[in-house]
Amino acid sequence: MKYLSSHEIREMFLAFFESKGHKRFPSASLIPNDPQLMFTVAGMVPFKPIFWGKVEPTYTRITTCQKCIRTNDIENVGRTPRHHTFFEMLGNFSFGDYFKEEAIEWAWEFLTKELEMPIEKLWVSVYETDEESFNIWKYKIGVPENKIMKFGKEDNWWGPVGPTGPCGPCSEIYFDTGNSKNCQDHENCTPACDCGRFVEIWNIVFTEYYSDENGNLSPLPRKNIDTGAGFERICAAVQDVYDNFKSDLFKEIIEKIEKTFSVKFGEDSNTDVSIKVIADHVRAIAFLIADGVIPSNEARGYVLRRIIRRAVRHGTLLGSKGPFLKDILETVIWKMSDVYPELLEKRDLIEKISKIEEEKFFSTLEKGVERLNTIISNFDKGNTLPGSVAFELYDTYGFPVDITKEILEEKGIKVNEKEFEELMNKQKEMAREALGKVEYDESNPVYKRLSKILSKTEFIGYEALRIEEELKAIINNGNIINEAFEGEEVELFFARSPFYSEKGGQVSDKGVIVNDKFMAEVNDVQMISGEIISHFVKIKKGSIKTGEKVVLEVNETLRKATEKNHTATHLLHAALRKILGNHVKQAGSYVGPERLRFDFSHFEPLSREQMYHIEYLVNEQIQKAIPVVTYVKSLEEARNMDVVALFEEKYGDVVRVVEIGDFSREFCGGTHVSNTGEIGIFKIISESSVSSGVRRIEALTGMEGLNFVNGLQDTIVKISQMLDIPIYKIQEKIEDILQILKTQEKEIKKLQSQLATKTIEKLVDNPKIIKGEKVVVGILENLEKDVHANTADVLIQKLGRGVVILFNKNEENNVSFIVKVSKELTNKFHAGNIAKKIAFYLGGGGGGSPTFAQAGGKKVKKLEEVIDNLENILEE
Ligand code: SER
Repeated sequence: MKYLSSHEIREMFLAFFESKGHKRFPSASLIPNDPQLMFTVAGMVPFKPIFWGKVEPTYTRITTCQKCIRTNDIENVGRTPRHHTFFEMLGNFSFGDYFKEEAIEWAWEFLTKELEMPIEKLWVSVYETDEESFNIWKYKIGVPENKIMKFGKEDNWWGPVGPTGPCGPCSEIYFDTGNSKNCQDHENCTPACDCGRFVEIWNIVFTEYYSDENGNLSPLPRKNIDTGAGFERICAAVQDVYDNFKSDLFKEIIEKIEKTFSVKFGEDSNTDVSIKVIADHVRAIAFLIADGVIPSNEARGYVLRRIIRRAVRHGTLLGSKGPFLKDILETVIWKMSDVYPELLEKRDLIEKISKIEEEKFFSTLEKGVERLNTIISNFDKGNTLPGSVAFELYDTYGFPVDITKEILEEKGIKVNEKEFEELMNKQKEMAREALGKVEYDESNPVYKRLSKILSKTEFIGYEALRIEEELKAIINNGNIINEAFEGEEVELFFARSPFYSEKGGQVSDKGVIVNDKFMAEVNDVQMISGEIISHFVKIKKGSIKTGEKVVLEVNETLRKATEKNHTATHLLHAALRKILGNHVKQAGSYVGPERLRFDFSHFEPLSREQMYHIEYLVNEQIQKAIPVVTYVKSLEEARNMDVVALFEEKYGDVVRVVEIGDFSREFCGGTHVSNTGEIGIFKIISESSVSSGVRRIEALTGMEGLNFVNGLQDTIVKISQMLDIPIYKIQEKIEDILQILKTQEKEIKKLQSQLATKTIEKLVDNPKIIKGEKVVVGILENLEKDVHANTADVLIQKLGRGVVILFNKNEENNVSFIVKVSKELTNKFHAGNIAKKIAFYLGGGGGGSPTFAQAGGKKVKKLEEVIDNLENILEE
């Protein structure tokens, strides 16, 4: 086999399939536009809607080299020759175009003719009932029958990715490495053996079925081909190395690691594990950050966090005492950015984010390991660590459970993962509850009964704020009733309602429900089971019966103010992405009439400039008075339009899109202004941290914004009046005042010192004699801390041989004191012990060395008692 570099192999593959009529596409993002999936786990993921038959293909033949992430086997990465988190997958795809014959023939042609793999080293497998593929391999390609394996669903069936979707039987090609180190029966070893000798390098999936949640299959509209060839494995095979990490893909990265830690790859098996973990993980880290993931405690962010932390831990196993990732990441960027230019584009971000996360973990890693070691010091092999300990390590020291597992595995100890998961879920639940408990209980059986007599409520509040309706049902205290009276708090139900129910961060509408003999205030509105709108009201006047007509009237002032904030939230989201980058993702929001709050993923506080810039961009869109357009689309269509969607949200088949010119486009069911001009003004009032990796912005719009600015102005005007100077001189004046205060403070200290010195002289002249030595006791008041210390120093100097006890009473009725014992007397007195005893009298604490101690207490009144007992205290 001729030697080919990884670069050459990648290019040869794509060019080969181009020559077979395929359109070459660059790799899609690691973050799929697919709510079913967290990451792009295979080359077919970007084309899933086409395989599924939901979207028509523009090209029926496509070829790619797709970046992928899989983390289900993360514990094995480093321990085997072929496990990775990040990897590349070569693919050729046919959407209702060619099928089995061509896919098999071209695979064979590429491997044997282009890469010149020796035919005798290749084996194949087919799905057990797929005679067609078997015959193609046997008769068209000429593979001997004993080298065509037949496997079941476990091995030769692929998909769906996610709970439902396209899937099908597959046919695989294996490369015989000849390495029989781990095999019991080398003579008879085949791809059915899991010793590692045979490596699957190519997988052709005949994607012709759709699988539902229960695994029921139905034919897809087209028969498709999805080929995935593991790039790292092919490179290793062509370059005649058994271990993927020995291929040229990892060469420079591993050299960098060797240099960083002064280690050698291939000399020690434990060291090799750590080298491979780091080599693998740095690629994942660089690519994930480049595609917009930032470390957090949720979903994708947590995967990245785990990967960084695992890399850091293995760095410490190689002897690292501080951050080391930057240089190695640099090598990844340098090595791979000609194929993946996003690495170079996002280079600063990659280094910055990984550094912050790395430093954060380093600061607790050592303590966590120490804690773990203490706990398991009397554990034996085969013991199980309680899940609560694993949880404590996670919660206090940031140890992802797989790190705890890995550390323990080295010692033969297991982790109670079930208990760990339970504790994790409990914590999540508590966090959710803390976010705001929903007051009604949707699972209340009364709603089930209600849904039998009432159909879906039509929400007409996008267009109308006031309508007349017939009252359909009343619920009071979990019972369906016919009539409700003044003073009661009940839920009212109608066929149509203009009242917006709380969702998507937007608060519910307030308003009234009235007729000429009845009036109720609407305090809360909730959607029950996504269908029925419940109006929580307090009846202020009269009574009401089902069947009566009433007017439902939304409070327009509050609604309009809320709409300003909602549209401004979309503008803010878009501006954040423009200024900070596409890693910004919504992590929660509150949209009310008085203000808006937007939480988003970002790794550091925003600078003043960034905030101004964001405010400027949003206000610019407001001043442009752009119409806000909303429309309804199928989810598939909307997805192709680059709409900002929330990964965690579940969307129905039809989605509502809110579009603000070219500036912003989001899935949203909320209510909005019809023109951005209505917002008037957008003013950020705070920027803060919510949790690690999540920031919060609070802002005001409309009159609230104006009121805020006016409030600031009022304060400034008052200050200017107080200081009796014009506004533009305030800053200068305050600087002057602060300067004066500083000078005065110095002056006070100086005077205090002088005064203290005078007192000292008197004290030194009148010492007590205890155990035959001079003991000077002084009580001073309100000294600055350093003056106190300094005075004690001067005192002992003047005294030469002796003991000094200097009390300092302050205005809060506390007393602090310093004890000094001259060196030659340490055999008679111990400053620390004296301090402890005195502090005991004074109801406080403290201590120190034989010559110097500091302490204090709150019982100033006991001071006299201390002085009276001094001889006893010092004699003891
Ligand atoms: N989707 C299949 C795989 O990931 C082939 O591309 O193996």
